[in-house]
Amino acid sequence: MPALQDMVHFKSRFSMGKIFANLSLTQRVMTIIFFGILFVGITIAIMLENEHHKSVLQQNKMQAVTFLYGIERDLIETEANDPKVLNQILQKAATHRNGELEFSLFSLSLLNAEGGVVTKTSQSKEHQMVMGQTQGADFDSMAGHHVQLLQKENSPFAGGEVQYFHDDKTGQKITTMTVSIPVKNTDYILSANLDLKKTMAAIEQTDRVFEQTLFGSFAIGFLVLYGVIDFAIRKGLVNPIRKISIVTSDISHGNFSARIGDLCCPELQHLGTSVDRMAENIEQLISEQETAYLQSLKSLMKALEAKDPYTAQHSARVAKFSVLLGKQVGLPPKELKLLEKGALMHDLGKIGVPDNVLNKPSALDDAEFLQMKSHPVTTAKIMKPLSRFKEFAQIAAWHHERWDGKGYPDGLQGEEIPILARIVCIADTWDAMTGDRIYRKGMSQEKAISIMENEKDSGQWDPYLLQEFISLIKENNQPSIEMETRQSA
Ligand SMILES: [Fe+2]
Repeated sequence: MPALQDMVHFKSRFSMGKIFANLSLTQRVMTIIFFGILFVGITIAIMLENEHHKSVLQQNKMQAVTFLYGIERDLIETEANDPKVLNQILQKAATHRNGELEFSLFSLSLLNAEGGVVTKTSQSKEHQMVMGQTQGADFDSMAGHHVQLLQKENSPFAGGEVQYFHDDKTGQKITTMTVSIPVKNTDYILSANLDLKKTMAAIEQTDRVFEQTLFGSFAIGFLVLYGVIDFAIRKGLVNPIRKISIVTSDISHGNFSARIGDLCCPELQHLGTSVDRMAENIEQLISEQETAYLQSLKSLMKALEAKDPYTAQHSARVAKFSVLLGKQVGLPPKELKLLEKGALMHDLGKIGVPDNVLNKPSALDDAEFLQMKSHPVTTAKIMKPLSRFKEFAQIAAWHHERWDGKGYPDGLQGEEIPILARIVCIADTWDAMTGDRIYRKGMSQEKAISIMENEKDSGQWDPYLLQEFISLIKENNQPSIEMETRQSA
């Protein structure tokens, strides 16, 4: 049974429905059109070919009747009853006029009123052999049947139906037709047995050319149609739907400023406008919520400043140094704005650190240090609802990460840390070294620069940003920067 199971499995995997389901919209439409045109094309081809066959065979029949009338004239003129003389007439007609006909002759027969054969032309060896091997190919009895028909109906001719025989020995298909006319002023019936091999070959050749032309035209037409429909579907349906899909995906990922804009067709434009309106409403709602939330954060910062006055001054200076470094490395204005806001609130999470730890004038023990280290995570949690300002929250969350991956809270490494957080990290360290605390005075700029230069290869900071920061401090006569920032803080 495994073979049967395999077959069932194969069928289920490769069923037509599944194949169809994996096709693109254009391919689906074109598959339906392809089979539709193919069906119509084959039906039309069969109908036209049938009509053509009938027409050619009708021509053969009429030509045979005309041919027999020619022989009839000779028979009437002879007025002889001698079978030998009659046979000569038939033989002569068969030999001399055979080349003018579209068909070949198997034989010509003259029958009497009783259906008996008076005389008939001799048959070729090939014909005798074929007839001898072909069941039912009794043309004399067919001609005898015509005698009865002509006597009964008084028609100008009889027969003309196409008969097919199969030669069992050679496998050859024999197509034939028997046509008979009454010979005027006599009791004779003149009958011709036609070999339609030539006619059938001509028909097949015409059919082949017709089918090749038809299916060639079909293939070219289909390819052109494919191109046109593919273009139309892409332009009118696929591209607009893709645009709607991209924008809705953007919106679902928090980019509420994404818009669909103009689309090509009214039906999809209606959908696009609805999505844009929905995004506008969401953006407005989120904006209002975030504005309110930012106000809450500012209040929290005020609370933190009241709890820890150093943090307010420190944050202002870190923001200033961060923006200076951001400008130094060519950040665009939008990024600089985010950088400033993020730096101002980078230590917001310290509001969750107990006062005795936050303001401890001496070194922190391990437990206290752990509490202090939790502030970036606390800040990130507080800022999480600000979905539009992800980078802004990342600054606070990762400003204690290190370039070498040994920082906290997530141990990010190198460029995994966003550049804004890497900038704030350097500005934060700089101010921690140079800023005054209640319990100690900040170190001199020269000493801080010297420490930073010595630590350049320690792996703590982004080497490029650190180098740019040191250059910035040196080039701008750092004390003046410091004075400016401390005053503004
Ligand atoms: Fe911090």
